[in-house]
Amino acid sequence: MLKYQSIKSTLLTKASILFGCLVLTPGISSSQSYSNPLIIPPLLTGVNFSLSFAPSTHQFYPGINTSTYGINGDYLGPTLVFNKGDSINISVLNNLPEITSCHWHGLHVPACADGGPHTTINQGETWHVQYKVMNNAATYWYHPHVHMTTQSQVTAGLAGMIIVKDSVESQLSLPRTYGVDDFPIIIQDRKYSISGQFLAYGLGDSMLVNGTALAYLNCPRQMVRLRLLNGSNARVYKIGFNDQRNFDVIGGDGGLLSQPYSTNRILLANGERAEIVVDFTGDVVGNQIYMMSYGAEMATNIPGAITGGMGGNGPLEAVNFKLFELDVVPQLPNPVTTIPVNLVAQNSWNPGSASRIRNKTISGMGSVNGMGNFLMDNTSFDMAVFNDTVQLNDIEIWNVTNNSNIAHPIHLHDVQFNILSRNGVQPPPQEAGLKDVFLVSPGETVSLITRFEDFSNDTIPYMYHCHNLAHEDMGMMLQFIVVNNTSGISNQIQREQIHIFPNPSTHQWKVQLGNINLDDSGIELLDFQGRKILTTFFFNEEENGFLINNADFSQGVYFLKISDKSKVYISKLIKI
Ligand code: C2O
Ligand code: CU
Ligand code: CU
Repeated sequence: MLKYQSIKSTLLTKASILFGCLVLTPGISSSQSYSNPLIIPPLLTGVNFSLSFAPSTHQFYPGINTSTYGINGDYLGPTLVFNKGDSINISVLNNLPEITSCHWHGLHVPACADGGPHTTINQGETWHVQYKVMNNAATYWYHPHVHMTTQSQVTAGLAGMIIVKDSVESQLSLPRTYGVDDFPIIIQDRKYSISGQFLAYGLGDSMLVNGTALAYLNCPRQMVRLRLLNGSNARVYKIGFNDQRNFDVIGGDGGLLSQPYSTNRILLANGERAEIVVDFTGDVVGNQIYMMSYGAEMATNIPGAITGGMGGNGPLEAVNFKLFELDVVPQLPNPVTTIPVNLVAQNSWNPGSASRIRNKTISGMGSVNGMGNFLMDNTSFDMAVFNDTVQLNDIEIWNVTNNSNIAHPIHLHDVQFNILSRNGVQPPPQEAGLKDVFLVSPGETVSLITRFEDFSNDTIPYMYHCHNLAHEDMGMMLQFIVVNNTSGISNQIQREQIHIFPNPSTHQWKVQLGNINLDDSGIELLDFQGRKILTTFFFNEEENGFLINNADFSQGVYFLKISDKSKVYISKLIKI
């Protein structure tokens, strides 16, 4: 295929950014040329991985240097390939001018390895994390998860794909040669300033795929697997092709489906993944199609189809627009030309064996971009409050009801779950497998079931939150701990009993204990990974309290754990 860069369209693009006119990838009528080869992030394989987060710049449009954050590069990060069952070691170096963290979205890992807002990496520091890969073959991702700055850091470019492989998936005749017939497709919209810098904002005005603006991808005349990841801050996509062809959805967030599901549209909310297989065997070489988002077909309360004050007036709202171009090229040796009728048998949890049902309500009125008062459980995020305590190995049903004015993508850490129903009705086929994110629309109740297995930790919580990053940063995030009562740890966490000031502090914390009787107490100071760092304290009986000198501590999160006969009290301390 001969591709050329149209000088005219380049100049127009440049001009439109410079004049602050934000129409970079307008609707299907666009005459812009998709002339940039789709960037394929490099692969990292094996059991030892090293990632370096650092500032950089990248030209998304010719002649315009956009400041970015990258992982081992300019923008986004390498694709990590993990084999189920492997124990892996990852080092994450923070060379950014700010604190960060690295969360393994969708992976079932111990709370101390999860990379949430409690497990931050200071500037100049390296986080060494080890865990065993326990998830099924599927597409996952990694991104920072720092309270209040997740959206700005992801916008700048911190995110990457994870491909988990296992012995079940590898038996199936599916395309799986990375960059040849199996492609990562990381979909992100971006909003630019007049000088072409990213604005950390919910909805963007132009598209990037794998960090490529106006991208094309050569697809051989055979079955091609696309691993779709909605890595956008707030926009939901309704994916299809401009020739309205069907494609097979073979997998969702946490694994392959039992059977391929043929459709010409798939809704993809923030954080969600879908693996699709597109059949090019009947195409002629030279055929060009576009992957589209059919925003005009989405319900008008879904971010991306909301116009006016609640969604913004950007050029991509409630319209159909191109994501990238697919160019058909000749078939390769040993092509996959058909895919199996059966994929992976599913076994779900039995609702009858659930020990607990939690009802979670989303309330408030607001905008896609983070204005308003959206809340989960009428509670805003507080790092020091564990909102839910789950007993290890319990099966639970969570009913999430949206009483707010717009749809929200809800994500749980730690677990993969099954969606039992949407408003009492079976979910669509694309949601029949394991999931970790789901969109819940106004007036809708989504019921999920899962089992909280393997990992308990009474000091480090897992998050559950809205994956609209503007909403997450504004506090639409709560936390649960998984406890193992049989080991004698109480699930009564009452931080109200413990008064700490100042907190955060720079040199000392003064701790006063309410009505905790210390006669039989054990006091420990733990770091964020649960390691004991102080066990001796000088107690002042009159004040029923003590001082902790933290002048020499490194910045970050600590936990004060006080145990008496029947309870464990845990408070979070922050050193700045
Ligand atoms: Cu994609 Cu809480 O994360
Ligand atoms: Cu996650
Ligand atoms: Cu939300």
